[in-house]
Amino acid sequence: MREIGSAKRWWWTIPFFLCAALAAHRGDPRERAEDGATLDKPIAPQATVMYWHDRAFGQMNLGLARKDQKKAARNAWLLAELANINSRHNDSPRFKAFAAQLRKHAVEVANAVEQENVAMARASSKKISQTCKACHHQFRHDEDENGEKPGP
Ligand code: HEC
Repeated sequence: MREIGSAKRWWWTIPFFLCAALAAHRGDPRERAEDGATLDKPIAPQATVMYWHDRAFGQMNLGLARKDQKKAARNAWLLAELANINSRHNDSPRFKAFAAQLRKHAVEVANAVEQENVAMARASSKKISQTCKACHHQFRHDEDENGEKPGP
């Protein structure tokens, strides 16, 4: 009789573990959307989104340098979409404004390339680089011991 009683007490705690696990899961600041029900929520780490910003920006500039229109335009459009994704990672209006600015200049590059306006494409690429730096200045907090930002 005593053994059955202690077994019952043990089972009784299970809902509390489940609630705690659920609370911990919901408390994730990135609010990962594994079930796909909320596609407007971030799912990847922000550093990964940034890795692809860096890659897309680099490939876009490579396309411009090689006069490879397709490569330049594709990567400019990708960068514009990455800015959309990045904007989900921070609720600050200033952060979202930087992401929107990046998207605007990426769209400018894509349009300039499609219109074969090389000068305009280069000018907008420079504005993208300035936007990367401006946002990093305010929102990136991984400076080295000299207070220098490691990336662009
Ligand atoms: C709207 C703000 C914003 C813009 C615009 C932005 N970044 Fe970032 N970037 C961040 C933040 C915040 C981090 C720090 C992320 C972290 O460490 O979690 C970061 C980190 C990075 C990193 C380091 C990632 C790592 O592995 O730690 C690279 C590289 C990077 N950004 C490249 C770029 C490039 C290139 C551009 C422009 C094409 C750009 N970023 C535009 C906010 C921005």
